[in-house]
Parts: sequence; C-alpha cells; structure tokens
Amino acid sequence: MKRSKRFEILEKRDVNKDGFVKDWPEVGLIAIGSPNDPKPSVKVENGKIVEMDGKPREQFDFIDAFIADHSINIENTVKAMSMDSLEIARMLTDVNVPRSEIIKITTALTPAKLVDVVDKLNVVEMMMALQKMRARRTPSNQCHVTNVKDNPVLIAADAAEAAIRGFDEMETTVGIVRYAPFNALSLLIGAQTGRGGVLTQCSLEEATELRLGMMGYTTYAETISVYGTEQVFVDGDDTPWSKSFLASAYASRGLKMRFTSGTGSEVQMGYAEGKSMLYLEARCIMITKGAGAQGLQNGSISCIGVPGAVSGGIRAVLGENLITTMLDLEVASGNDQTFTHSPIRKTARTMMQFLPGTDFIFSGYSAVPNYDNMFAGSNFDAEDYDDYLILQRDLKVDGGLRPIKEEEAIAVRNKAARALQAVFKELGLPPITDEEVEAATYAHGSNDVPERNVVEDLKAAQDLLKRGVTGLDIVKALAKTGFSDVAERVLNMLKQRIAGDYLHTSSIFDDKFHVISAVNDCNDYMGPGTGYRLEGKRWEEVKNINQALDPDKMV
Ligand code: 5AD
Ligand code: CA
Repeated sequence: MKRSKRFEILEKRDVNKDGFVKDWPEVGLIAIGSPNDPKPSVKVENGKIVEMDGKPREQFDFIDAFIADHSINIENTVKAMSMDSLEIARMLTDVNVPRSEIIKITTALTPAKLVDVVDKLNVVEMMMALQKMRARRTPSNQCHVTNVKDNPVLIAADAAEAAIRGFDEMETTVGIVRYAPFNALSLLIGAQTGRGGVLTQCSLEEATELRLGMMGYTTYAETISVYGTEQVFVDGDDTPWSKSFLASAYASRGLKMRFTSGTGSEVQMGYAEGKSMLYLEARCIMITKGAGAQGLQNGSISCIGVPGAVSGGIRAVLGENLITTMLDLEVASGNDQTFTHSPIRKTARTMMQFLPGTDFIFSGYSAVPNYDNMFAGSNFDAEDYDDYLILQRDLKVDGGLRPIKEEEAIAVRNKAARALQAVFKELGLPPITDEEVEAATYAHGSNDVPERNVVEDLKAAQDLLKRGVTGLDIVKALAKTGFSDVAERVLNMLKQRIAGDYLHTSSIFDDKFHVISAVNDCNDYMGPGTGYRLEGKRWEEVKNINQALDPDKMV
C-alpha cells in the first residue's frame, strides 16, 4: 500500500509507542461495566447481610463475607441501597449537599452500587466530587526517593531537597533487599534535615517493613496490598483478615499506615473472574474500610499500564480515587508509575487529581531522575519540577510543591549528607568520605556519585538490625555530632508515635509538628468561597517562580 505521509508521521509520535487493547471482558480487560459484573442489591436479616450484589450469603467468597460483615453500615444500607444511583451521583456534584451527609449514604452501599453511582459521572463531575469528598481540606503530595545504587548519601541529599520542595511524605525502596536499613535511615535523616515533620517509609516485604517501623527507622507504611478477587489473595498467602492484623500491628506502635490497591492488579495476576477493573477495585476499597485502615493508596499504582490500555481506563482510575474518598478514607491518588511515552497523555492523566486536589496528589512523585526510580519510574520526576511549578502558577492550583533557589538546595543537600556522614561514623558504619558528600551535594542522580563498597555496606546494614540500633540511637548519634536540630526533629517523630494524633485520617505534620488531618482540617468544600483556596502567603510562594522577571530589577 502507498503510505500516507501524515499517517507515517503520526505513527512515530510518542503516544504510538503505548499499548492499547479493545475491551476483553473474559479476562477482565474492561474498565467499567463488564457483562459479568453483578447488579447492586442488599438484603438484611437479623442485623446481618444475607444477600449482597445478587449473591446469597451461602455463595459468598471470603471477600464478600469480609465486606458484608465489616465494611457496610448496616443501619443505613437498606435505605441507601434503595436510592436511585443517579440521585446519589447528583448529590456528589451538588455544592449544596455537604460531604458529611453524603458519607452517611456512601458508607452504606455495596461494591456494585458504588460503581453504578460513579459511572453516572463524567470526569469533570468526578473532579467536582473529589474536590468536595477528599478528607483533608489542604491538598498534599508524596514523593519517591530511591537510586539504582542504593547510595545512602544520595538518598539523604535527595530527601532533604524534596523536603524543602514541599513533599509531606516520602517513600523509598531498595535495589538490593539487604540495603533496607540504610535506605530507611538515610531517608529519615535527609527528610528531617530538610524540614521537621516529613513522614517517611521504606517499601519492603511486610515483616521487614514492620520491623523497621517498630525500630523507629520509618514513620509510616503504605504498601500493604489488597486485591479484589479471592484467588489473588490466596496466591499471596493472604486474606482480608491477615491484612487487618498487619494494620493493627502498625497502629499498636503508633505508626500511620494505609493500604494499597488499584485497578488492573487482578488482570495482571490472571484472576479477574471476568469482572471489570472498577468493580474489583471497589471491593478493595471496601476491604480497606472494613480493616479499619485510615486510608488507601490507589489509582492503579503499579498496574497503570492495564487500565491505561483500555477504553475509559483513565476515567476509571479517577473513579477509584473518588470511591476511596466516598468511604471517608484518606486517598494517596497514584500518578506514581509511568504508563505512557507521551508528555501530553501523562499530563492529562495527572490533571484528574491535580485540579481537584487530593490528600496526596501523587502517591510517589519521583524526587529523583527516572533512571534512579526503583519503583519502575514515576509519571512525573525530578526533571519535571519546573513544569509542575509552572502548572501550579498558571492555574492557581496548589499541587503541594514550592519553588526553591539553587543555593538553598545545595546547602540543604550538603547538610543532609554531612549529617549522615556523622551518624555513620558515630554508629561505626563504613565511612562516608568528604568526596562522597561533595558529589551528593551537587548530583542530579547516581551517575554523579562515587561507587561505595557494596559488600561492606550490606554487611553493616544488616548488622544495624542485629545490634538492635533504634531510632533513639540515631537521635543520640546526631546530637553528639553537632546536628542537634536534626536530632530534635527525629526525636519529635518518635514522640509522635506515643501521642498517636497522626493516626487520625489524612494526617501530615507542619514544620512545628502540628498534625493537619481530616479531624482539625476537615474538608468543608461547599462551592465557591468555601473549602481550600490557594491564597495569601502560600499563593505568593507558588507565584514566585525563579523564571519570572522582576519589574523592580528591570529599571
Ligand atoms: N494493587 C495492590 N498493590 C499494589 N502495589 C502497587 N500497585 C498495586 C495494586 N494495583 C503495591 C505492591 C508493590 C508496591 C510498590 O505497592 O505491594 O510492591
Ligand atoms: Ca507511594
């Protein structure tokens, strides 16, 4: 065939490197409305749900049973389920109906009904609803801090810079598992050097992650995964009850935690039972609610390529964030894993959460270049910082970040690297040289820092656990070596574990260690003139990008 030059050019566009597939319900490759999805229904007898979404209790799988017994407000369910889905959908977008009134209804619905309600909305209406329904009034942001070499000095420096850029939560993970204690330690020290009160976590196999939390190396946890079909749980040797137990273990030591789920995981694991992605995700969100976790990281997360490939998939991803807020849970709303080669498509996807604002717009903005992102790359990374800051300024939207000066970044990176150097020395860990401190201070990524002795590091990292070095030992080491301000902040993070206020829904800290949560900063949006507004000092900060010419300096 003689080729059209237009089509040849189009073929080369970034977006055509992405993968797409037509709806294929048999394997679950359908965003919403699979012919195999159940129809909403509920029956209650003697205070117990005996039928849910067309299934009698005798046929419940363990997810149905868990949801029926723990996730639905029994008192309201019959009434709420009898309401027209369109009517509930309209309440969601009606600025005159307060969040608190809607929650009474939406926490009494079944998974199929939640999907039916949300499917009545187009994306603009979903964004309107999300603006009202998110738990915390003030939006916020979370970042990833990792690198391919697991270089601890670089993690500390990157975390410090990310903290002054405005992230309230930071997560790391490992290239090599045995590095975990070093990564968690470096992130903790780096983050607190940047700004007191930043929450940090290290995503790991569950037992190790819990242990690091209990020892004081981390201050929250997030990657406690739940799934929408029984077989996927079984494959992971888990149940909704084992996840609930894990959630309680964190809470018992005063650690903030949330679950993780997202559309596409069941398809990817090969057990979608022919159901739509959003229906299965609604089940995950309800498991989270029933387990008593305060929040959820969802928005497909590491499976975003799957909903990203089907029709209406990105709309369904927004839908799952919305359902999370409708169940009165904190939402860390994805935008973490890369899913497209197209800068246009990646930006459009992120606008769904950026414009309305969520508890954490990104549940992992890469604070490092994507080659160093050990979560397989994020939708936005360190090379997009200026674009992001300008989007905030153009649209007068608070995306959680702030412009910083190059000098500030250099100074805080250097301090974090030196603090880590001092702690390593004090704790008898393999030395960090002045050359390494200098390199991490000015680095963009791990290509710019010297190699460390990996064998020695790994041995020392494991030794920290064997020796039982805790958060308090880290505080002492910082205090002894001239970093008393950082020591005080790390100590303060440990104290918060006893106070427990940051177990409230959607908690973050300001730099004075005051909790900002859905309790004292409850989202009260009810239309123009209400809710969170980007104004005053914060707007001045967002406005003042380094690139803007200053008329005072032009004359
Ligand atoms: N469903 C459940 N868990 C997920 N994670 C990421 N995406 C999903 C999803 N769609 C969790 C996994 C992974 C970590 C980064 O987050 O536990 O290891
Ligand atoms: Ca995350």
